[in-house]
Amino acid sequence: MTSRKPTAGTRPQAHRARRGAGPVGSNGITRPELVWPGKYDDRGRLVTPPQVRLPFQKIETVGESRSTREARKRRAPSLFEVWQGEEGSTFGDGWKNKLIWGDNLLVMQSLLEKYAGKIDLIYIDPPFATGADFSFKAPVGEGTASITKNQSILEEKAYRDTWSRGRSSWFAMIHERLRLMRDLLSDNGTLYLHLDWYVGHHVRPILDEVFGESCSLGEIIWAYGSPSGGRVSGSKLVKAHDIIYSFAKKYGEHKYRIVYLPYSEKYVRDWFRHTDRAGRKYRKRQRKDKATGQRYWERQYLDESKGVPASTVWSDIQQAYADPRAYKIGTKSEITGYATQKPERLIERILQISSEPGDLVADFFSGSGTTLAVAEKLGRRWIGCDLGRWAIHLTRKRLLDIEGCKPFTLLNLGKYERQHWQGVTFGPTRNGAAATRAWYEYLTFILRLYGAVPLPGMEFLHGRRGDALVHIGPVDAPVTIADIESALGECVRARQSELHVLAWEWEMGLPSGTDGGTGGLMHRVARQQGVRLRLVRIPREVMEEQVAGPGDVQFFELAYLEAAVETAGGARTRRIRLTDFVIPNPDSAPREVQGKITKWSDWVDYWAVDWDFRHDTFMQGYVAYRTRKERKLDLVSDPHSYPEPGRYRVLIKVVDIFGNDTSRALDLDIP
Ligand SMILES: C[S@@+](CC[C@H](N)C(=O)[O-])C[C@H]1O[C@@H](n2cnc3c(N)ncnc32)[C@H](O)[C@@H]1O
Repeated sequence: MTSRKPTAGTRPQAHRARRGAGPVGSNGITRPELVWPGKYDDRGRLVTPPQVRLPFQKIETVGESRSTREARKRRAPSLFEVWQGEEGSTFGDGWKNKLIWGDNLLVMQSLLEKYAGKIDLIYIDPPFATGADFSFKAPVGEGTASITKNQSILEEKAYRDTWSRGRSSWFAMIHERLRLMRDLLSDNGTLYLHLDWYVGHHVRPILDEVFGESCSLGEIIWAYGSPSGGRVSGSKLVKAHDIIYSFAKKYGEHKYRIVYLPYSEKYVRDWFRHTDRAGRKYRKRQRKDKATGQRYWERQYLDESKGVPASTVWSDIQQAYADPRAYKIGTKSEITGYATQKPERLIERILQISSEPGDLVADFFSGSGTTLAVAEKLGRRWIGCDLGRWAIHLTRKRLLDIEGCKPFTLLNLGKYERQHWQGVTFGPTRNGAAATRAWYEYLTFILRLYGAVPLPGMEFLHGRRGDALVHIGPVDAPVTIADIESALGECVRARQSELHVLAWEWEMGLPSGTDGGTGGLMHRVARQQGVRLRLVRIPREVMEEQVAGPGDVQFFELAYLEAAVETAGGARTRRIRLTDFVIPNPDSAPREVQGKITKWSDWVDYWAVDWDFRHDTFMQGYVAYRTRKERKLDLVSDPHSYPEPGRYRVLIKVVDIFGNDTSRALDLDIP
């Protein structure tokens, strides 16, 4: 989100002091540093974004059923509310890995309160050159067909923001984030920053400034490919490497383990030239007896040798998509289709050098979740963040696919981020005339984006678009059935026949449905009163600074989901069958997608069930999803046995091939 106005740093003296002693130039600079337009204000103060600390909202707990959580809670009461309560720093103490959907600036600022000085390793791979960073190849249905998904306007705009003033805005973006990462790192923590030739040389002085030159641990050249004719473009040398800068928070206190790599065939040929009677290869090494000073020969066997220590040039790891091994590890593949996905072997090496099992690893540009997947496999704790809806969804599936993946939570800044945006954009929202004005400005803004005009004098209806009346939900509360009924009543009294209800969030599970087909409950109620109802989601993109008018963002109507509960085996055992899923406006999907959809289930990419939903976090009990290798999707869940009789609410969540969630609640009585 970029709607906040940056402010100049408030402690110029402190900042100057940090820039070092020595003769001060007329602009206050005492040693070499990278300066870009807008870095300092007229008085030489560093321009920094406003400091914001927002609470996190837990959207979903993945991989742990409510009963497991309840049972564990009984054993250790401190686990009760992991995020708000006393969460320990080990898995045994209730730590849960975290996948956070949102802009990493706000996310890191908000993490500071709990995690300043607590993260042991940060790897980031920020977008740094081409628009391909946000594209994603999404398979559709069960065949081999796929669509290239250019991601949402939010992601495109974030990308454009980042480059809006060319490299200057990128430098400002990375500078403020690196400062936050430094604060989040523990004293023995290390940062790895993945870049290439385009900005790498500029970022090195920024890193020196933020971390201190003496904390540099080296510049890793990741030589990912051998030059070939296919790579030639323009009159330039063939690009065949990336750069990864490594910096310690405190040099000398940082964790470091030597990682040994296998000898190359040539090395073995050149040096392990001898073979003993048992067929073991060895080399001869001359040693010196410390006591006597006498020299003697020793055999170093190849099968007992550790290999060569990793240097700053890594040429044994191919790009994810170029490495045939990536496609076949057992029956699973690490290939996700995310254009900028990095190979797991690369991240594995980084984690092995600078972290130990149990350490906390973070990636704030996590993309397809490579760092998180590797951290999970190597027993590290992790925090991941990305602003892309698809990136988060893909990562959730990727993690679930790891055998033995520990439960993790999906978080965002949700309503707090929206409240913050509303306050910054439209003014105070608490009490009095200013709050009323801010509320009307907010309504007018959303109406304009929706292509509607304000409608004064009504209680629940805020605007009109063509023949339709429009109700808009608040930023900080879900729109409920009661809200829809009130707007519907007013619409009927005004003798109008079409109502559009726009919301950021809906009362969970209730308003599923479109007016097509059999329609959802609310649609049927509306139709009986002669009103065509549309339930429309307000997209997060609305909060983007450049969003100004109709057409800037796309509003999606909610999809329609139908599911049935079936008795399976015992009297208290049930399973869920998905029976229908309707995208409201399939015509608005790209033509190439429409052509590839042959049945309703092709729209579904993932679905999950919370067997005992309690109107708080969605606790994922059963889950089914498509992977790149396994395109078939089970439409019937595994059976679930309820231990106690009673009335339960089952919540079913579907994520469609565009990454949008739809949920449906079903009540059941268990005898
Ligand atoms: C180069 S990709 C990372 C790829 C990742 N290393 C992998 O292996 O899949 C960069 C990612 O940064 C994310 N991103 C860009 N700006 C962001 C921001 N301000 N906050 C959070 N994520 C951001 C993009 O959505 C994109 O997924």
